[in-house]
Amino acid sequence: MSKQKATNITRHAGATTRSDRSQLLGQRGCLVWLTGLSGSGKSTIAFELERLLIERGRAAYVLDGDNVRHGLNSNLGFSDEDRAENIRRIAEVGALFVDAGIITITAFISPFQKDRAQARDRLADGEFFEVWINTPLEICEQRDPKGLYKKARAGEITDFTGIDSPYEAPADPELTIANDQGSAKDAAEQILKRLEASDCLRAGSA
Ligand code: ADX
Repeated sequence: MSKQKATNITRHAGATTRSDRSQLLGQRGCLVWLTGLSGSGKSTIAFELERLLIERGRAAYVLDGDNVRHGLNSNLGFSDEDRAENIRRIAEVGALFVDAGIITITAFISPFQKDRAQARDRLADGEFFEVWINTPLEICEQRDPKGLYKKARAGEITDFTGIDSPYEAPADPELTIANDQGSAKDAAEQILKRLEASDCLRAGSA
């Protein structure tokens, strides 16, 4: 976590609670954290999951790496430090969304174990679902939807994950999806099943 810079700041408690919001929405907020290589299918799966949830009357929202990097995180690049800050901010925004009661889905490479662990630590037990979109590098590179692997191999982009920047695979994720073996819809349905087996889709006090 980054150091607190401001002094003389005080927390204010709201006049409504998380439980009130949970009763209103009929669900508890949670954070579904998709991690995997560029081109692994994270964004497609995230938006498909969001659609499935909304269709079922759930309040869900996707925070997507490429999208967030156009706004909130437009001042960050792809050095290890910038990626860590990217993930720190998303963990913080994700935690706020969870507090608001939203089923929040993030789609970021989030290549470093330490940064993902910090995101997990930001939330309570049972609120964080790490989902590894385990599509092999060769498949991501064959797909190359944005032509970035080609550029990375040609040396036109540096610090590219899987090429000259590392990806640390999750050691103990809540779910692993072998995305080269099924459609994005299958993957989203697997994640939905996992959520249905949890407390997230029921109103509750937490
Ligand atoms: S993360 O590593 O900090 O989590 P994030 O998910 O936000 O990355 O952004 C990754 C996306 O940025 C990729 O899907 C790709 O479209 C684009 N991108 C551009 N340059 C790079 C790079 N050097 N490494 C990885 N992705 C890159």
